[in-house]
Amino acid sequence: MNILVTGSKGQLGTEMRRLSAQHPKHRYTYADIDELDLTDAEQVARTVDERAIDVIVNCAAFTNVDGAERQEAAARKVNADAVENIARTGKKIIHISTDYIFSGEGWLPYREDDKAAPKTAYGRTKLEGEERLLRLCPNAIVFRTAWLYSPWGNNFVKTMLRYGAEKEELRVVYDQIGSPTYAGDLAKAVYAALDTDEWKAGTYHFTDEGVCSWYDFAVEILKQANRITGTDRYKAHVLPIRSEEYTYLTPRPHYSVLDKQKIKQTFDIQIPHWTDSLRECLQQMLQAE
Ligand SMILES: NC(=O)c1ccc[n+]([C@@H]2O[C@H](COP(=O)([O-])OP(=O)(O)OC[C@H]3O[C@@H](n4cnc5c(N)ncnc54)[C@H](OP(=O)(O)O)[C@@H]3O)[C@@H](O)[C@H]2O)c1
Repeated sequence: MNILVTGSKGQLGTEMRRLSAQHPKHRYTYADIDELDLTDAEQVARTVDERAIDVIVNCAAFTNVDGAERQEAAARKVNADAVENIARTGKKIIHISTDYIFSGEGWLPYREDDKAAPKTAYGRTKLEGEERLLRLCPNAIVFRTAWLYSPWGNNFVKTMLRYGAEKEELRVVYDQIGSPTYAGDLAKAVYAALDTDEWKAGTYHFTDEGVCSWYDFAVEILKQANRITGTDRYKAHVLPIRSEEYTYLTPRPHYSVLDKQKIKQTFDIQIPHWTDSLRECLQQMLQAE
């Protein structure tokens, strides 16, 4: 198949490219905004046509949650209008969405058909993207994920490594619960969907296994980083705080855990525990130093 990977310089896009060597039966076109601006409908249609694309894996998004709150129209252009441009090509599509489409006020893992109730501009625009995609393209695949990190781009792991080495103390919330997800694991799930003989349309939840708070995640990052480097460079003391003790520009979900039964059964995949995937990611990041 001819596969177009959009947002190819982002966290997931980079992991898709890195793993593509293990999936040589497909041909790949990678494009980020500098090569293909998805908000330009004509350019999207032309690229898909010229490259004879069969499947589009949409890794592009406006992912800055606070930025989206300040500039909802700009976020909507990428997270919804651009998704519609992709949908209008009539090709097979794998699109990535987020836990932010839920209210985050639950206390049981969210299932795919649970009620969407976004509380943020980011969540609203991402939900609109899902809805416009599925209206035009009911056979699309949507993967919702959460708490994504990788060696690339900006993410919580990189922030903790930087502050953990610079500061004496880090204050991190312990009342927001979710599942850290290594972008490489999500990319493997996307390849599982691409490699099945039969196209299995639908909405699916994917995160790494296990559940923790941002505080637990931070403690584990610094502990593993010290172990991997054989140093105590990541020395900051991590202090658990409540969300109300931290000034957020945008409300953050208290509960982001996604139920993964459907994706595991449909694509017959095994998902690693988040602590194991964190180790794999940190080894790549820190052993290269
Ligand atoms: N990061 C998370 O914690 C998280 C959590 C849940 C779900 N997700 C979803 O997972 C997917 C992948 O996230 P990610 O963290 O890999 O995102 P990312 O690192 O922010 O990458 C997104 C890429 O899309 C590009 N892009 C932005 N506007 C574009 C446009 N108009 N045309 C083409 N490309 C454009 C970005 O370029 P610029 O950098 O130049 O803008 C960036 O390279 C997204 O759908 C996101 O909503 C992410």
